[in-house]
Amino acid sequence: MTSPSATAPDTRPLGSAAAGTPSGTRRGTEFEGTVTVLARQAVADDVVSLELAASSGEPLPVWQPGAHIDVVLPTGATRQYSLCGPVGDTAHWRVAVLREPDGRGGSQWIHDHVEEGGELRVRGPRNNFPLRPATRYLFVGGGIGITPLLPMIAEADAAMAEWSLLYGGRTRSSMAFLPELEGHGERVAVRPQDEHGLLDLAGFLGDPDPSTLVYCCGPAGLIDAVEAHCADWPTGALNIERFAAAAVRQPADDTAEQPIEVELRASGTTVTVPPGLSVLKAVEQAGVPVLSSCEEGICGSCETSVLEGEVDHRDSLLTEDERAANDTMLICVSRARGGRLVLDL
Ligand code: FES
Repeated sequence: MTSPSATAPDTRPLGSAAAGTPSGTRRGTEFEGTVTVLARQAVADDVVSLELAASSGEPLPVWQPGAHIDVVLPTGATRQYSLCGPVGDTAHWRVAVLREPDGRGGSQWIHDHVEEGGELRVRGPRNNFPLRPATRYLFVGGGIGITPLLPMIAEADAAMAEWSLLYGGRTRSSMAFLPELEGHGERVAVRPQDEHGLLDLAGFLGDPDPSTLVYCCGPAGLIDAVEAHCADWPTGALNIERFAAAAVRQPADDTAEQPIEVELRASGTTVTVPPGLSVLKAVEQAGVPVLSSCEEGICGSCETSVLEGEVDHRDSLLTEDERAANDTMLICVSRARGGRLVLDL
């Protein structure tokens, strides 16, 4: 997941002055606990929505459009799902899960084992894809990528912003939440590929417009195409969220493949990270606890403050400005230029 928005007049998420990126990382106050599945509903071919409530009965943390939660499966795997219900509802969270036969098994486990009345371990919410204030939005969703856009649309609507959505999918029956979108009339263009062919991105996006923000979530091919169409748009206008890591960023030189020395200053220890081992794994092997989830550089769970050293960023999440600031890194994939880092761990 990434939001390569960079320079914008107001970087606060829409509708919130409090949420955001505290202390140099994306992690804020997070809930970690057990939720009960109040409802499970098929909302498209191979897509189920789950309505969740804290098993303790306590309110769930507030969140903002674009937020996701980690679902920690009994198999040990952790998967991220966008919150797609009403933003102000602290009694319930809703997520939608696409069964991915070629995935790593997390979605299949949820489809096969999660029933109403069952419980799940969750963590979050966290927001790597915040909706920023604008007078006009263009939303592009592909398949299950509609999920983070649903609360964004509600928020844009409430803010009286101008917006429209281009929603693509393989077939109409594979596209979730169509009934919820019907009420928006011509603002929503539903374009199943078997009826309409490829999405007309050029026609939908039009020319670069400084008053418009573009939000896109969907498969890699769609995101790549939207990025290409928005190449001439102002910096920060395009905001994307990925399901999978982009092509691995290659180091500028071969130093990143050399062993690196990582001082964990708060822990008072130093680890050597050999080629082929991630900084995350080396830190874990040293017995220093650190959050992680995707291990692909897309979820932000392992984001860690950098105190010294130059980072070789290889993630798919940080913006170019964040990379240049060199004060944070995703230790599951990124390494070091120069052979040494000091981390706030
Ligand atoms: S664990 Fe997801 S970005 Fe590092």
